[in-house]
Amino acid sequence: MESIQAVKQRFGIIGDDARLNRSIEKAIQVAPTDISVLVTGESGVGKESIPKIIHSLSHRKHGKYIAVNCGAIPEGTIDSELFGHEKGAFTGATQTRSGYFEVADGGTIFLDEVGELPLPTQVRLLRVLENGEFIKVGSSKVQKSDVRIIAATNIDMQESIKKEKFREDLYYRLSTVEINLPPLRERKGDIHLLFRKFASDFALKYKMPTIKLQDEAVDLLQKYRWGGNIRQLRNIAEQISVLEQERMIGAERLKEYLPNIGSNLPAIISEKKKESDFSNEREILYKVLFDMKSDLTDLKKLTLKLMENGNSQEVQDENESLIEKLYGNDDGEDVDSEELDALSNENLEVLQIPQNSPKGENREKDKYYFAEEIEEEEPLSLQDKELELIKKSLERHSGKRKAAAEELGISERTLYRKIKQYNL
Ligand SMILES: Nc1ncnc2c1ncn2[C@@H]1O[C@H](COP(=O)(O)OP(=O)(O)OP(=O)(O)O)[C@@H](O)[C@H]1O
Ligand SMILES: [Mg+2]
Repeated sequence: MESIQAVKQRFGIIGDDARLNRSIEKAIQVAPTDISVLVTGESGVGKESIPKIIHSLSHRKHGKYIAVNCGAIPEGTIDSELFGHEKGAFTGATQTRSGYFEVADGGTIFLDEVGELPLPTQVRLLRVLENGEFIKVGSSKVQKSDVRIIAATNIDMQESIKKEKFREDLYYRLSTVEINLPPLRERKGDIHLLFRKFASDFALKYKMPTIKLQDEAVDLLQKYRWGGNIRQLRNIAEQISVLEQERMIGAERLKEYLPNIGSNLPAIISEKKKESDFSNEREILYKVLFDMKSDLTDLKKLTLKLMENGNSQEVQDENESLIEKLYGNDDGEDVDSEELDALSNENLEVLQIPQNSPKGENREKDKYYFAEEIEEEEPLSLQDKELELIKKSLERHSGKRKAAAEELGISERTLYRKIKQYNL
């Protein structure tokens, strides 16, 4: 059996908290079985690595691993995405399409945000879990699939069951084993470890010296509430890495980056970063240069890819994303059934787990694997502007995503992704 340490190293998991170790140990123990696992824990605690660990240590490791974000798929298309549809099942269903359960036969499906599944889909899911049977939308033929299911949620499932939003029978079926990840504020010893890791990653990425924290700043970091957990810590490490010229960070400077610090730490008075901080000419110039550098890197990547092998579909797809990123896009996609295939690529990820296999093996898998990674590389200033626009629009529409998405001219799903990305 692989050791906890080896697994952590292979999956880039930082930390030595006892509860974290226990969770990883549980994942290692259940991996060889086909038991359904429910991963729970607050937003941003690192739930997504658990299903990857389980899949890659299971006998299904050479089968497919498909991660589906249940919350990001519109209700109208989710059954068809998961179970497929027959030609003519609904307007626009011009051909028969396989769903993830058919595609992942022999592999693993990770149902992220499982609490968001609509009730009719829950019924279908229960059936696959019970006897491996499913039916395509618009079909009457029963099909079989041998899939291991791992689900994750950051919401209180008992509450959902009480409100009749989630079926109790399905909950018990999904959570044969539950793996809970502790919030960051309860892993105090790991906070500085994680910060140092992120600081060194961003120093490499942005080719700048690594930021370091003075002792009082470390103290502050450990006392902070970390509502957005590791995702929030990572974002803050990135912001500081990019924006601060002085690489030794004191507590006062750090405070400027910690939102709601007043309510988090009663003893310290809130001190928000002021607009005028950015009016400093040098900073503006610096930000402009930074954006240009980032664009240049993207252009280089694009050129290199084109020179290498510009013709394959997969490279073309990737290039389109890069071009969109560099020159903007209208992103006005409206989900309709004809676009299901394109849609699929955004909502699922077929995993390439770091195994000792030679690079380039299984190229087929890559095609689902770009959306998240490319987003992470967006230049910071762009992100800032985007974040501000999204925040304002959500405020104007009292948090109603649909109206905000309409105003912003993006699809609801894209908005959902952005909300996740910025931890709003
Ligand atoms: N132990 C860890 N070491 C290093 N990075 C981590 C660790 N845990 C989480 N991360 C990073 O933190 C970020 C958030 O993790 P992840 O996406 O798994 O959160 P999540 O629990 O799925 O949250 P949500 O419920 O919002 O989807 C990711 O960038 C992930 O790589
Ligand atoms: Mg997640």
